[in-house]
Order: sequence, then structure tokens, then C-alpha cells
Amino acid sequence: MPDSIIIPAPAKVNLTLDIKGKRPDGYHELETVMHQINLVDIITIEKQEAGIEVVTSSDLVIDDETNLAYRAAALILEKSHCRAGVKIIIQKNIPVGAGLAGGSTDAAAVLKGIRQLFDLRLDDRALHEMGLALGSDVPFCLRGGTALATGRGEVLGRLPDNLHLNMVIVKPPYQVSTAEVYKAFRPEQVKRFPDTDAFIESWYNCDMIGICDYMENVLESVTEEQYAEIKTLKNQLVQLGALKAVMSGSGPSVLAIFDQLDSAVRAFEIMKKTCQETYIVSSYLKEEVL
Ligand code: C5P
Repeated sequence: MPDSIIIPAPAKVNLTLDIKGKRPDGYHELETVMHQINLVDIITIEKQEAGIEVVTSSDLVIDDETNLAYRAAALILEKSHCRAGVKIIIQKNIPVGAGLAGGSTDAAAVLKGIRQLFDLRLDDRALHEMGLALGSDVPFCLRGGTALATGRGEVLGRLPDNLHLNMVIVKPPYQVSTAEVYKAFRPEQVKRFPDTDAFIESWYNCDMIGICDYMENVLESVTEEQYAEIKTLKNQLVQLGALKAVMSGSGPSVLAIFDQLDSAVRAFEIMKKTCQETYIVSSYLKEEVL
């Protein structure tokens, strides 16, 4: 058996995000289309005799036991009564606190990586349960691809991976707290709700115009209120030729969809001059990395 393993951990964007109500457990009932993109952290897991150690390439990531990747390792090792330890090395490429599930995808990669490295007898259902215990986005990150996520975000209906989207993502130079954004959400402040059914129909038909028409994120009503710049960034991206620009998750990242790669490249080059954390990305294809 090998002593180490390397696992890619792709980010996600929310192409639609709707909130259907507050749940008795305090979380919100979601209806959101999630889509993996090829902005990818690289996770190396090495066996060690005991203990868990996390090393990251980013100053912004806390590498103690509060780190979600650390907690994922602790959980899976405990649940599988595995007494070995691991060293987790995270090459961080996904911006932190951005609405791109950077922490959740690292945790999902650690669960998958440790299962494989120690050949643990855990099925996907068990991994899903552990993922949900760590965070609402982790089950999607375990599954990947494109999905309609409901419930807390863990009830996943797979959508076909029949579209390769050209996107530019701009992450403003601050982080937002997901919990704070959800807490401040008031449906009466939402200007436009997504039409998720129409979005999905367009998705099945590969109808880019329909897809872009129905993309909306109700959490913009909270985060844009606090950071007016998000709206400005969306407008700028549309002026640069994007078919649509919306915020991802609780923000503050903005994602813009382009019908042609060369117009995405042009927009990327212009946005990069003023926003350091600008990325040109496309849909994540599993064969693409490693
Ligand atoms: O599940 P996770 O810990 O990633 O969620 C972070 C915060 O986002 C939660 O503490 C909660 O405040 C909010 N949240 C929510 N409803 C969801 C998902 C997240 O209210 N479906």
C-alpha cells in the first residue's frame, strides 16, 4: 500500500441559489444548482504514526484543529477506528472565504483520500454522512459534477455534465461570513428569485441564453447591501461581454459566464488589472487534473 496520496479538490460555483424557508434545525432550506470548476486545491495526504498535522501554502488558512480538513481527518479516523495519523499538505489555489467552497472541498478530498490511503471499509453513504457533519457543501464536493442541491444542500440530484462553461471569477479583497449572510437574509428584500425549474430545463437543452436568463442568487440581497462593489463588478463583467454575472454562494466572489473563450480571456485580462484575485476558469472535467 502506498504511504501517500494526492487528491484534487475543485471549487464550486452556485449557478442558481434560492432559499425556500428556515428549517427547524436553524439552517435554511435551499434550492441551488452547484457546478464544479477547474480552480483546484491540491491535497497531499501522508501516513504518519500518530496525530494529525495540517500544512497549507496560504497564510489565510488556519492550520490547527479548527481547520475543516483537520476535522475531516479526525472524524474519519475516529469513525473507522484507525489509529494511524496523517500529515495533510494543502496547496491552496482557491480563494478563502469566497463563496467557492474552498474549505468544504478540501474536507471532502481528505475524506476520500484517507478512505483510499488506508483502504477503509466505508461506503459512499458513510462518507456523505461524515461530510454533512462537517458542513452543508461537503456532500456536493464529495459527489462533484453538477447537481441540484436541496435540503441543507445535501440532497443531491445529479444534472448532466453536458456543458463546458467559460467563466471569469472575481474575488473582491475581503471575506464574508456565511453564517452572518444567512442570518441577515430577508426574502422581502430579494429583487429577483431564480426560476430553478426553467434553469434546469435550459441546462438539459444546453440553451445558454435560457441558462443565463434564469441564473440568480437570492443572497446577493444581503452581501451586495454590505458591499456595493459586488454589483459594480457584475455590471463591469457584463459590459465586458459576459452573458450573465452573479454572486456565488454567500459571496463575495462574482462569476461571469461567456459564450466564447476569447471574450472570457479579454475580460479576465482587463479585470485582473484592478482585481488581483481574478481567475479564468471552466467546468471541471475529472480527467483534466493530475
Ligand atoms: O453547514 P455550514 O457549516 O457550512 O454552514 C455555515 C453556516 O451557513 C451555518 O452555520 C448556517 O448559519 C448557514 N447555513 C444555513 N443554511 C444552509 C447552509 C448554511 O443557514 N442550508
